[in-house]
Amino acid sequence: MLSGSNTASGVAAMAAYYQRFDPAAYLQYNYTPPRADFERKDSIVPWKLACLHRAFNEGDVSGELLVDIGSGPTLYQVLSGCEVFSKVLLTDFLEVNREELKHWLQDDGGCNLDWTPYLQHVCKLEGRRYDQKAAKLRQVITDILPIDVHRPQPLAHDALPSAGADCLVSCFCLESVSPDLAAFTRALGHIGRLLRPGGHLLLIGALGESYYFGGPGVKIPVVPLTEAQVCDSLKESGYTLIRLEVYTLPQDMRVGVDDVTGVFFAKARKD
Ligand SMILES: C[S@@+](CC[C@H](N)C(=O)[O-])C[C@H]1O[C@@H](n2cnc3c(N)ncnc32)[C@H](O)[C@@H]1O
Repeated sequence: MLSGSNTASGVAAMAAYYQRFDPAAYLQYNYTPPRADFERKDSIVPWKLACLHRAFNEGDVSGELLVDIGSGPTLYQVLSGCEVFSKVLLTDFLEVNREELKHWLQDDGGCNLDWTPYLQHVCKLEGRRYDQKAAKLRQVITDILPIDVHRPQPLAHDALPSAGADCLVSCFCLESVSPDLAAFTRALGHIGRLLRPGGHLLLIGALGESYYFGGPGVKIPVVPLTEAQVCDSLKESGYTLIRLEVYTLPQDMRVGVDDVTGVFFAKARKD
């Protein structure tokens, strides 16, 4: 295991990689076909949306406040949750990503991706009419806040009610901002402090990934995770695993923007 000072420099090095993150390119790489092909059942994005839809609608996830950890420039991860929770907080480390999300929230035409097919797809899963979905999402997103999962207190101290959030969702964040497995596990513990006991964590992430491109020439290192490591880290950080699902990337989803081999979805409860 790394010593304290090496870990601090590893975290600082990760922050430096993110200074060149390009939201428009990242959206293009990961949130357009083939990775977001709604005609294909084996495309990554429909798989993620189906996992989230199921997890939010099993009856055990409830409360008022949902917090998305490391939202990036994306919204797909809260499209099901926005029907269950009356308040949704989005968070990201980078101002460029928070700005991208604000463009959508303010509907000012400045977005780098049209989320309409995503909203339509989730409405289909929910058996709901599409016309109110965007308005509903804009109504429940109450803020877009800065976050650093490497701090024991990742959000500003007054950002959440003292009881904590009722549910956290986090997608492709912790493994792609941590210098090593120990930092990943610590970050899981840090975000757990934002969650009330008994609250749920819905965690999606990359398996076997050692890097991804956050923009042209912006190669960001990732902690390559196995399913067993995800389960161990959750346990070590004070969560009880409810379910782990795994998706294996078909060959034609390996489009040269990362070396990910699979995706995990974990539903867990804070002890
Ligand atoms: C791979 S992106 C994931 C974005 C989005 N959640 C998704 O599903 O595509 C990783 C995100 O983590 C954010 N990030 C970087 N350093 C972070 C930190 N220390 N704490 C929290 N988020 C961080 C980045 O700005 C980026 O938006």
